[in-house]
Formats: sequence, C-alpha cells, structure tokens
Amino acid sequence: MIYLDNSATTYPKPSAVAAAVSSTIKASANPGRSGHSMSLAAAEKIYAARRTAADFFSAADETRVIFTPGCTFGLNAAIKGLLSPGDHVVVSNLEHNAVMRPLETLRAKGIDITKAEAFAADDEKTVDSFRHSINAKTKMIICTHASNVWGIRFPIERLCALAHAYGLIFITDAAQSAGIVPISMNDGYDIVCTAGHKGLYGPMGTGIMLLSENIMPATIIEGGTGSNSVSLLQPEDLPDRYESGTPNLPGIAGLKAGIDFIRSKGTESVAQHEFRLIGELYRAFEKLPNIRLYTPFPDPEHFVPVLSFNVEGYDSEDIAAFLNNHGIAVRAGLHCAPSAHEAFGTLSTGAVRISPSVFTRHSDIERLVFTIKKLK
Ligand code: ALA
Repeated sequence: MIYLDNSATTYPKPSAVAAAVSSTIKASANPGRSGHSMSLAAAEKIYAARRTAADFFSAADETRVIFTPGCTFGLNAAIKGLLSPGDHVVVSNLEHNAVMRPLETLRAKGIDITKAEAFAADDEKTVDSFRHSINAKTKMIICTHASNVWGIRFPIERLCALAHAYGLIFITDAAQSAGIVPISMNDGYDIVCTAGHKGLYGPMGTGIMLLSENIMPATIIEGGTGSNSVSLLQPEDLPDRYESGTPNLPGIAGLKAGIDFIRSKGTESVAQHEFRLIGELYRAFEKLPNIRLYTPFPDPEHFVPVLSFNVEGYDSEDIAAFLNNHGIAVRAGLHCAPSAHEAFGTLSTGAVRISPSVFTRHSDIERLVFTIKKLK
C-alpha cells in the first residue's frame, strides 16, 4: 500500500517507536503509585518523556507538559477549563471539530463564538480579520496552527501577540504542525495542544497539552494522582492536576521515541522533504484539466505539506475508493472539519487529501499522479 494519509496518523512508525512501546508494555509497573523499584523505574520513564517534550517545545519546565490521550482531549480540557457563561471566543473559520464541538456544547451554556476568516498566504488580512472579530466580551482566541484539510498555516506568533495586546488568552491546535513546523513556548502561547501520533510519530492515543506559566484551567477530569491521596480536592500541582488516572506509559514511551526520531532528523529537513513532494504533486495536478485545486502553491511560510483536491465529475469518496483499489491510501470527505470545507465551498462534495510523511518517496507521488490520470 502507498500510504498518503499521514495527517490522519503517520504510518509507518519509526522502528524505535515500536520498540519503545513493546519493551515498555512487556515490563512496566504503574508509575508514581507505589514505592517499589519497578514503579519508580516507570515514573522515571514518564519523566524522561516529559523532559524530551519540554525541550522539544521549549516549555518553561517539564511540569508544564501534560500528557493527554490526544489533541482532542487537550483542546477540550483547555476550552472547557477556561470559558464561563457570557464569554466570547474568536476562532478561525478552518477549525477542526476538536475545537468546534466543545465550543458548540458551550454555546448552549451562554458562550458566544465568532469565526474569523483565513486568507491563504495573506497574513495581514488574516490578522485583521481576527482583530475585527474581537469584542468587549472576548476572552480567548483559538486558532489551528495549520488546517488539516487545506494545509493553510496561520501566523500564530502574530495572532498570539494580537490576543495578548487585548488581554486575551491564546490557544493553538498544533495537531497538523508539530514535528514539521518548529513550535516554541517561548513565543508566548498560553496553551498549545497537539497529537502524539501525527508529525511526532508516536502511537495513537497520545497527545500533549503545553501550558504557559500563567495559565491554570479548571479541571474537567479529577481522580487519583498518586499524590496527596488524603485530600478529596484535586491537587494544584502540575502535572498531577491534569493527569488523573493511570497514564498510557507504553504510549508515552513511544511518543518519546517519536520525538527523539524527529529531533534526529530535524524538523526542517522533514518539512523540506514533504514540501518537495507536495510541490511536485501540485505542479503535476496543475497540468490536469479535470483536477480542481483550491489553494495557491504551498510555500513553507504559509502552508504545511498537505494538499486537498477534487476531480471533476467524481465524488471525493469515490476517488478515495478508486485509489484504494489501486493500492493508494488517502482520506476523502470532510476530515472532521466541516467548517474548513464550508469556507471553500466543498461541504457537499468533500475533497481528497494527500498528506506525505518523512517515509514517503518521490515514486509514491508519481504513482498517485499516474493513477489519477486514469480517471477521465
Ligand atoms: N484529524 C485527523 C485528520 O485530519 C484524524 O485526518
């Protein structure tokens, strides 16, 4: 199978990731719960992973790295832990349902939402659009770092500065960018949530919520932390406050191996490789009269390496099925981001998404173009 669905989850995983999951699952006690040496060794593994993630994202310290079961969980924890009835939120019009669904749940409780329009490759207009969406009740700006459908990359440094100029919280969803675009908590973000299983090459069911030093969302999950058990109150100490319950140690060990892998490759060279492939694909598709492209040529300053398209006269799901029959895996439809499709007029058709990884080869892209050409 030629796998071009890496925005859903990267495949294959580096062998070091599989080895870390396997060795951990074969010999691990519960970390931070007991005083025996196996439990202490498990806690050390978690600490090592936390340290690796803190270094990778330049977090203030490792306690500000919260391991979550995924990006969706982190976004829910951030959104629901910080908003109260009467608050207003500004989001981009390209957000994933991981942001839009929790917000829709909160809308029923009196939270108001404005969608700011994204302008592909025009940061000035995008920032203006966010600025004009702010009102006296705005508490927070939430913006995806990069659209999971269109690859459009937002100027999050500027949006964060805009939020802070108005005294607002800034949260970004880095599910599609972490591992490809450098992200530093030194740039002032209040919260960054990301998935562990995409550009960080970790296992599914892992994620990270990075907190700045000034933010303390209310908890949405409370329970055992292995610390201060006599108290019925959720601890304030980090990371315990947001990590109740036995952690996914094999997953976290795999995530550490994934981040180590990306560090050894270098995000810049990973991005260069994927952009080269997506650029080739874009140029090839431009020459085919029956292909509809929706975005400008994906330059690394304004995009991540993801390309969505349609073929005239075909439903996007039919194209994905056709490609599957020819041994090529892609994702079509709405990609859990109906808002992003609505913005580009593809809500009824969906689109076919191509997302490479560090393991994708030039010949995979050639094969895709060759196969698409068979559609008349
Ligand atoms: N959010 C993931 C995607 O874009 C699953 O496919």
